[in-house]
Amino acid sequence: MKVIAFCGSPRGNGNTMALLKTVCESLENEGVETEIIDLYEGDLSGCRACDQCHVNKDMKCVIARDKLNEYVEKMAKADGILIGSPVYFANVSSNVKSFIDRAGRVGRANGNLYKYKAGAAVAAVRRAGALNVFNSINHFFLISQMFVVGSTYWNLGIGKNRGDVLGDEEGISNMKNLGQNMSWMLKKISDQ
Ligand SMILES: Cc1cc2nc3c(=O)[nH]c(=O)nc-3n(C[C@H](O)[C@H](O)[C@H](O)COP(=O)(O)O)c2cc1C
Repeated sequence: MKVIAFCGSPRGNGNTMALLKTVCESLENEGVETEIIDLYEGDLSGCRACDQCHVNKDMKCVIARDKLNEYVEKMAKADGILIGSPVYFANVSSNVKSFIDRAGRVGRANGNLYKYKAGAAVAAVRRAGALNVFNSINHFFLISQMFVVGSTYWNLGIGKNRGDVLGDEEGISNMKNLGQNMSWMLKKISDQ
């Protein structure tokens, strides 16, 4: 079983990455393979609303100059998808928004590529807006007919500067539990 994780922070090795690494370590401890992708390196532009994905139905976005199609392929093969975003003006980062719009559209144009996979959203926040980010990402999972995984609290970690979230004891413990819950759900789904 494999979970693919996408980090939507433009800040290398920041709080979002620390949270995702914690979830992935927990998944690995349960025997689930993980891979973390830095969305910033994908250099993603936004959806053009050309709707060619619905015409071509080739599992691809027509914008071929960035890494979106590589990510779609990885998600289609994975059993679970993790998406982490820093909170920017009480919303997801622009990387995450471009990713969701385009990957979501391609997925729906091609027979719901992510259907029956497990999905979990994670947000890094200084003070406020994390629940909006959590909801936005979960909306993508739910309309993709995926199963959303929760934890002991909504999946967020508090911190401002790089690495601050590691000092958020409850946030980190929540991420460890999230990894365990995701692994539990993945095993149930694979039994079907
Ligand atoms: C453009 C921008 C907007 C931000 N907006 C918010 C916000 O609305 N609420 C908040 O609590 N923190 C906000 N922050 C702070 C980040 O969410 C916080 O520092 C987070 O830990 C960054 O995660 P990262 O290290 O993964 O980039 C903002 C930061 C930036 C750069």
